[in-house]
Amino acid sequence: MSLEGRHLIDPVDFTLDELDEVFSLSERIIKKPESYIDICQGKILGTLFYEPSTRTRLSFESAMLRMGGRVLGFSDATHSSVAKGESIADTIRVLSSYADIVVMRHPKEGAPRLASQYSGITIINGGDGGHQHPTQTLTDLLTIREFKGTIGGNNVAFCGDLKFGRTVHSLIKTLSRYPNNKFILISPDELKLPEYLKNILNKSGNVEIYETNDLESVIDEIDILYMTRIQKERFFNEADYVRLKDSYILSKSKLSNSKNSMIVMHPLPRVNEISYDLDEDERAVYFKQAKFGIYARMALMALQLGVI
Ligand code: NCD
Repeated sequence: MSLEGRHLIDPVDFTLDELDEVFSLSERIIKKPESYIDICQGKILGTLFYEPSTRTRLSFESAMLRMGGRVLGFSDATHSSVAKGESIADTIRVLSSYADIVVMRHPKEGAPRLASQYSGITIINGGDGGHQHPTQTLTDLLTIREFKGTIGGNNVAFCGDLKFGRTVHSLIKTLSRYPNNKFILISPDELKLPEYLKNILNKSGNVEIYETNDLESVIDEIDILYMTRIQKERFFNEADYVRLKDSYILSKSKLSNSKNSMIVMHPLPRVNEISYDLDEDERAVYFKQAKFGIYARMALMALQLGVI
């Protein structure tokens, strides 16, 4: 089935073969970006960001510009008609005649799904509350493919805010569809992975899960260490955030027992959870990961727009 015109709200909207198609095209673009500089000529991407973003918005914009298309939208809903009380349904109905494809980020879980029900054009979820962030997942899986060769068969550790981190929720749900991954969940008790996700993982019958709050005790087993920021904006009270914010600070010395082949990923932005002394280490791949995000988004939009 073609990806043309298909919304991407949750990574399970695409089959594993379809995800594979996105990664194969990403890899072709990485090898020869000059072959793709005008495939989106005449196309317009709408960016509706109801919640702050740097990387996701700019990487979408860059991806569209690198394919010869154009971009319009807002990055601050207080300066749009939303401030006048316009509904998502109306905004998206109108946008459908202004753009060919839309990426939407929203603090409310489910908002992009709702938009897709009223939209005449393709909607991409750019992150909805603490729920899903499918294009970060494409970025993460492409990174894993590039560094590990295959997406299955790894010991993948998630560390930090597993309760509110939508990048974790999206990635772990998608990884559970691939064979033989073992998940090591490292978090303070208050920030554990939600039960509904653990149920999905257990039902997949594909994974083993181990939970701990001690990163150093498991460091030697990890193939992929996915660090996350404590999600300040999703806490109900400041005192809890302050108490938990520095739960994990990864530094070079803490990796002394890790495998040489281990990679450290992070969706960024980082706050305190990875010290700067790790940035030059070969195992730290988070800046390369951010770069892969451009290629994954180029491939995704090219396929959804049917220009390739
Ligand atoms: C993430 C997000 O917005 O969920 N950032 C991103 O998209 N690269 C992670 C975060 O904000 O911590």
